[in-house]
Amino acid sequence: MTDKGLREIVAAETKLADIDGQAGRLWYVGYDIHDLAGRTSYEEVVYLLHELRLPTQAELDGLTEFLVEERKVSHFLEDLMPTLAQQTSPMSMLRTSVSAASAYDPDGWDRSDEADRRKALRLIAKTPTMLAMYHRLRTGQEIVQPHPKLPHAANFLYMLHGVEPSQEDAEVLDTTFVLYAEHTMNASTFTARIVASTLSDMFSAITAAISALKGPLHGGANEESMKMLEEVGSPEAAAGYVRELLAGHEKVMGFGHAVYKTMDPRATVLKALSKETGERHGDTPWYEISEAIERTVFEQKGLYPNVDFYAASVYHALQIPTDLMTPIFALARMAGWTAHVREQYADNRVIRPSSEYVGPRDRTWVPIEER
Ligand SMILES: CC(C)(COP(=O)(O)OP(=O)(O)OC[C@H]1O[C@@H](n2cnc3c(N)ncnc32)[C@H](O)[C@@H]1OP(=O)(O)O)[C@@H](O)C(=O)NCCC(=O)NCCS
Repeated sequence: MTDKGLREIVAAETKLADIDGQAGRLWYVGYDIHDLAGRTSYEEVVYLLHELRLPTQAELDGLTEFLVEERKVSHFLEDLMPTLAQQTSPMSMLRTSVSAASAYDPDGWDRSDEADRRKALRLIAKTPTMLAMYHRLRTGQEIVQPHPKLPHAANFLYMLHGVEPSQEDAEVLDTTFVLYAEHTMNASTFTARIVASTLSDMFSAITAAISALKGPLHGGANEESMKMLEEVGSPEAAAGYVRELLAGHEKVMGFGHAVYKTMDPRATVLKALSKETGERHGDTPWYEISEAIERTVFEQKGLYPNVDFYAASVYHALQIPTDLMTPIFALARMAGWTAHVREQYADNRVIRPSSEYVGPRDRTWVPIEER
């Protein structure tokens, strides 16, 4: 009997993260996500996932300096980006740009763990620049060069909007990056580990991970959640909208989870951020509509919101365009993906599951003229 979706299969040992789906808890390298979110910067989480411990101030400064120095993209990508901005969706751009970034990585084909660590950090540093550059170009605005004095999340908002963000907005985005940074063996991480297990390179593994995240059942849900909030339009309309969706056997995006059978612990943080950020920006209807949807989905199906549902209204309040929400998930998850690739290389065996054959057997071959 096959376990469709491999829910019960343990595909790897990991020291990076753990989930208790019944209790709704998530830990990064032993730290509860509720202790990290809002108190630990994304840069610290990058260090934690790659070194398996929190950094000292000096170690954090060293990592931050490396990330800042690596923010610029190659001339090759700068030349490529206008075409990508004109012709592709943001996730396709990111997939193609990450693949293209391998061409000018200074570590080339060096396969040592130290080189892979640097490649990982370069991807973390450069992908926000790629996304901001893409958005500026497609909207006919001047490209904004990275700001060497701003932290990772603040710099992204700066490159995207062309103005320095408020401290509060920068911290909100940083917290969402922390929440999205890692999540055990989800589809994109598993994809990255499969590619790494063949001893293919870091860029190939991450390109494949982005491809897996692109699908609406995995990463696309924050964008779909935002579209739903806009379609619903008011808290009063939420109950009818949800009932109609469920009556048509359609999924409510941003709800349910393959592992959590209760509230996703990341969603509780994002729900509070959605209220606070919405109020601060006078962008409140989305939180209220979200709450009304949450109530009806629970009454009707007993399902809880996942990380993507309240992320949508948080990003909206930060004036992030809806179609950049999934790519932003990818920028944040870069920390977890790249750490998983290094973990896979460190104790590798090619991942090659079996399949159960259910087709016909012992058929008699006939020449083409007689078929
Ligand atoms: C995340 C997801 C793919 C998990 O799928 P899964 O592991 O197959 O989900 P479950 O097995 O727990 O589903 C249990 C039941 O709830 C239903 N269900 C799950 N999520 C649902 C949703 N968002 N809306 C409506 N019904 C849903 C399933 O159809 C299933 O119903 P059934 O027993 O009548 O067939 C699924 O919940 C989903 O598609 N959610 C919407 C997309 C989304 O938000 N993705 C982001 C994930 S972080």
